[in-house]
This record gives sequence, structure tokens and C-alpha cells, in this order.
Amino acid sequence: MAELKIRRLGYALGAEVTGVDLRQPLDDGTVAALREAWMEHLVLVLPGQDITPEQHVAFSRRFGQLDPNDATPYYRHPEHPEVLVVSNKPVNGKPSETRNTGRNWHSDLSYTGRPAMGSLLLCKERPDVGGDTMFANQYLAYETLSPRMRAFIDSLEAVHDVTLVKGIEQRSPELVAEIKRINPPIAHPVVRIHPESGRAALFVSQRVRHFVGLSDEESEPILRFLTRHAVRDEFVYRHRWTVNDLVMWDNRATMHVALADFDQSKPRHMLRCSIQGEPLGYVYQGDDSAAAAKPEATHRSVVASVS
Ligand code: OGA
Ligand code: MN
Repeated sequence: MAELKIRRLGYALGAEVTGVDLRQPLDDGTVAALREAWMEHLVLVLPGQDITPEQHVAFSRRFGQLDPNDATPYYRHPEHPEVLVVSNKPVNGKPSETRNTGRNWHSDLSYTGRPAMGSLLLCKERPDVGGDTMFANQYLAYETLSPRMRAFIDSLEAVHDVTLVKGIEQRSPELVAEIKRINPPIAHPVVRIHPESGRAALFVSQRVRHFVGLSDEESEPILRFLTRHAVRDEFVYRHRWTVNDLVMWDNRATMHVALADFDQSKPRHMLRCSIQGEPLGYVYQGDDSAAAAKPEATHRSVVASVS
């Protein structure tokens, strides 16, 4: 078994893990130790991993089934469909459609019925300065709300809408139409019970349109408060990339944002595998009456009664 060295990187979340070489197959004990560290720190940084897409896929698979990238088929790696290319390098002479990926705070694939459990992002090229990624701990975001606010949001559902992905309007109109067709608005619980830790985490983001059963006018100030609160400085770890860093995060308890503060003429090239999450939420039909009529059926109580 590999002897992992774990060093905390942030107060709220994040740890560096060394002593493991992802070019080699890992034994079960090492994977279990990594998973434990991952669940504790939520974001793990594994530096110096000069791995091939095959090795990236093989490592990611140790943590669950890979997301097939059906929600975003157009960004797949040409030879490895499980790998998404997040890059500003032109493709066939045209600007890359992923050059502005992740520019608002989000949890991966929250605009689908299977938000990603985790994501593993590998840095292959980076600009000299800037282009960091920030992560925020959503357990802390939930736990620092007042008891009254927690009681209010425990039963709330939020409508996640892919058209709120920042920069989507810069993509080609045909692509945007396809993205919208594949990903209709979807309602998710605002508070998620993490299936491994049993802890509650806030699950809102800048990709939320409004709350089910509340008018837009009612939703707006609450949403503004929650999305700001969720990413308070003291909940955040900011990662400055080095080439061959593999960073893995738990999307069920964190959000992240990719900062645009770098020279866009310089390459930034990243590869991502996502671990498939559990089915969650439902396609939102625009009819609030059903949810509004059953305020007692909270996700917390539903989850608590089956777990
Ligand atoms: C992602 C993403 C962050 C980045 O790949 O899910 O949001 O820094 N990217 O590129
Ligand atoms: Mn992302």
C-alpha cells in the first residue's frame, strides 16, 4: 500500500496528497485511504501526475462509474468519450466552445437529473499567471445559517437552468439550442444530505433560476443571499495550478468557479473525468402547485427516513 502524505491546503477545505503515482495501478487499500481523505477534505490536489487519458480514466473509475458526458457530448475528447476537454485552444481553427467553462459558481452537472458525484481535473497547460480555480465548502455554508433559515430552506427546491451557465451566449446558436434541448430546467433540493457523511450541504448556485412554489420576486432576494453566503471567503480554497496537478472535488459538498483573470491568448488546457452521481431532482414543468401543496414532504425528512 502506498504511503500517502496528506497536507491541508485550506482552512475550509482542500488537501495535497503526495506519495502516490497514478501511472501505476493502485491497490484497494490506497484507494480507500484516498477516498477517506477526499471525503474529509472535499478537494484533493495530487501534484506531479503526468498521466495519459487512459490512466486518468482508470484512476477516476476507482471512485465510481464515470459519467458518460451525455449532457455535454460536444466537449468530449475525440478518442476518450469519458474525458471532457476544458480548453481555450482553438479547435479546427475556431474558438473552443469550452474556453469559458465554469465561470460562475456551480456544482458540476447540477442542470441535469444526475449531478456529478465528483470531478477529477488534470492540468496540461496553464497561463503564467491567473486562471486559478476556487472551491467553497457547502457543509459550512449550510451549518453557518441561522436555525430559522435552515428550517425554511430544508423543504425548498430550486430550479437549475443550463441557460444560466455564464458565457453560454458566446457559444454558437446551434450549440446553445442543442444544450437546451438536452437539458431542460430541473428542480433539486436546496439542502442535500451527503450519502457518505450524513451531513447536510447547501445546494444552490448561480445556475438557479428560482425556487419551486415561490414567485420570481420572492425568490430573488433569498437566492441572492444564499448564493453570496455560499461562497464567503472563509469557506473558500483557491487553487493555483501547476502543470500535472490532478484536482478532485466532491460536487455534493462543494461548489467551484474557474477564474477568467488571465491572458486568453495563452493556452489553458485541462482534462476532466466526472464520477456519475445518484439520480436527483425532476424535470421542472413550470407547475408549482404540486410542491406548494406538500410543504411537509421535505427532502431532509424523506432522505432521513430511508437511510
Ligand atoms: C470543470 C470546471 C474549472 C476550471 O471542469 O468542471 O468548472 O478551472 N473547470 O477549468
Ligand atoms: Mn465545473
